[in-house]
Amino acid sequence: MIFRQLFEPETSTYSYLLGCERSRRAVLIDPVASEVDGYIQLLQALNLKLIYTLETHVHADHITGAGLLRNTLGSKSIVHRDAGAMCADLLVTDGVLLQVGELEFAVLHTPGHTAGCVSYAMADRVFTGDALLIGGSGRTDFQQGDAGQLYDSITGKLFILPPDTLVYPGHDYQGNTVSTIKQEMVKNARLGGGKSRDEFIATMQDLKLAYPKFIDQALPANQSCGLAAE
Ligand SMILES: [Fe+2]
Repeated sequence: MIFRQLFEPETSTYSYLLGCERSRRAVLIDPVASEVDGYIQLLQALNLKLIYTLETHVHADHITGAGLLRNTLGSKSIVHRDAGAMCADLLVTDGVLLQVGELEFAVLHTPGHTAGCVSYAMADRVFTGDALLIGGSGRTDFQQGDAGQLYDSITGKLFILPPDTLVYPGHDYQGNTVSTIKQEMVKNARLGGGKSRDEFIATMQDLKLAYPKFIDQALPANQSCGLAAE
């Protein structure tokens, strides 16, 4: 498998390129609009054809590159059916399996940060978007966020994966790149070490986070796959 973890510094966003060595077919998870030229160059350099862009959710902090990539390369964009992005080519639900060459992804519906959040699980790794972050979690105070639901998603859908499963999040603000399910179950500050659902809800209620800087631009743009609404 070809794998690249890509970082967009302005919003500390991680995007991921995964490619099948045999078929040369590839996917991008959570591509960022400002980075699209770089993705196209990278795909060319690696001799890969982009088949899908996979969104973990409708982002409030950056604009997706899905629409630009679809227009340029003909890739299909995928989001959960509850994400509110009807511009997508494929709306998926929990349990859907996506096959791209020899790569296989299982869609896990992991709501709570937003109603339409998904994680994409593969053999040895899971892409958790903003549900489970390294040492933390996504916020739950916008986009139909719900702390209790996020606790249930993380403990019920992610913490049951094999302990050595690699965790690749949608963001990191401290320079961490990867974790494991076991590490998060033990050390995650918000819900590791056996913290209860009530403790997690109380923690999330106490965060008092600032209004998301780009949400008023990013949300409507992402509901039309990152392209200006027509
Ligand atoms: Fe998010």
